[in-house]
Amino acid sequence: MSKGNKQALRKSINCRLTDATVVEMQNIEQAFVIKSSNTPSVTEEKVDGHSSEEIINLDHGDPTMYESYWKNVGSKYTVTIPAYQSLSYFSNAKNLCWFLEPKLEEEIKKLHKVVGNAIVQDHYIVVGTGSSQLIQAALYALCDSLNEPNPISVVSAAPYYSSYPEVTDFLRSRLFKWGGDARSFDEDGPYIEMVTSPNNPDGVLREPVVKRAKGMLIHDFAYYWPQYTAITSPADHDIMLFTVSKCTGHAGSRIGWALVRDQNVAKKMVKFVELNTIGVSKEAQLRAAKILEVITASCQRVKPHDLENFFEHTHNLMAERWKKLQDSVKNNKLFYVQKYPLQQCNFTGDFTETYPAFAWLKSKEGIDCEKLLREHKILTRSGRRFGSDQEYVRISMLSRVDEFDLFLQRLSTIRRISSGNSEL
Ligand SMILES: Cc1ncc(COP(=O)(O)O)c(C=O)c1O
Repeated sequence: MSKGNKQALRKSINCRLTDATVVEMQNIEQAFVIKSSNTPSVTEEKVDGHSSEEIINLDHGDPTMYESYWKNVGSKYTVTIPAYQSLSYFSNAKNLCWFLEPKLEEEIKKLHKVVGNAIVQDHYIVVGTGSSQLIQAALYALCDSLNEPNPISVVSAAPYYSSYPEVTDFLRSRLFKWGGDARSFDEDGPYIEMVTSPNNPDGVLREPVVKRAKGMLIHDFAYYWPQYTAITSPADHDIMLFTVSKCTGHAGSRIGWALVRDQNVAKKMVKFVELNTIGVSKEAQLRAAKILEVITASCQRVKPHDLENFFEHTHNLMAERWKKLQDSVKNNKLFYVQKYPLQQCNFTGDFTETYPAFAWLKSKEGIDCEKLLREHKILTRSGRRFGSDQEYVRISMLSRVDEFDLFLQRLSTIRRISSGNSEL
């Protein structure tokens, strides 16, 4: 693939690609001509103004769905940072997490109180460049003090978030190593279990599965927010991770936070972030603080008249998308999606299903679902990346509305399984 073509490919799917992804996509390019959505060919068939050649990229959980809400709140909630502000490395030298902006700390506490999804009291708040950085910080902090001769196993029940094995083994640490599916883990000694609830990729509400004496837990609550699931009780665990990426949609700000019970663990996490990035961007923290403030204000009974309740709005959007997807899958008969139980949400007071940020789509037995969808120019992530089977794919439910509708329309045209897959 020439450099020019690579650039055109990046442009045409309008997202950031690693070179590995571009290489992976050369195969797709050979199968059909990729055209920029801005310059469609006149000979192409079009549905609702969209080319049938257009690639729909639902591989990443990029939360662009939230843009429409934030466009409507207007410029009143814009953050302006004067040139003289935020020069110092330090935010609050007296705080255990010395680079945590006091305003962000305050807004994190307020939001958890309003939503009721986590106990902040008796926990230290550690801010990170996304919760991705905090996953690594937590692994380091938990393992460092144990002084074990061999790396400690990190496990999670399959299907697990595809980043966990990658992040764990990337630097070939002597402190920890990826131990695979928690359900088949049977080693003695200390281990770390990642508990993701609701789970990425399948949206299931989870508890730890290994349950051994020397286990250490990291609860990843990226999706424990009312637009995705019922808030059934305030979570109260040793290490709980949250991120604005999936809560508010501001993935680009790269702000996550950890609630950490043990002071020494919190200190080690802070040390990790200190050595890694010497703190976390103040601009990003201040913007995230404002965004959290807006959300909290939108949840109040008496609120600014131009603010729609954020969680109500986004919950309705998710419910609508899931209904459309379930109808489409029912009509199609080639795929299955899971149904989720009704639960009472303490935040809204209503009964609700889980509306996960990803659909965990299953094709008929033995069919490579990712390959099948790729043939129809829908990019998804194969179940194999999550420690599961090729019959499954993870599909982002958080894209912009026109991309999501185009996906459903494209899905409805898949009537039979063909080409590389066996004819059905
Ligand atoms: C379960 C889970 N944890 C953590 C992350 C990382 O989020 P970020 O680094 O954007 O805060 C993600 C992102 O998709 C996720 O799905």
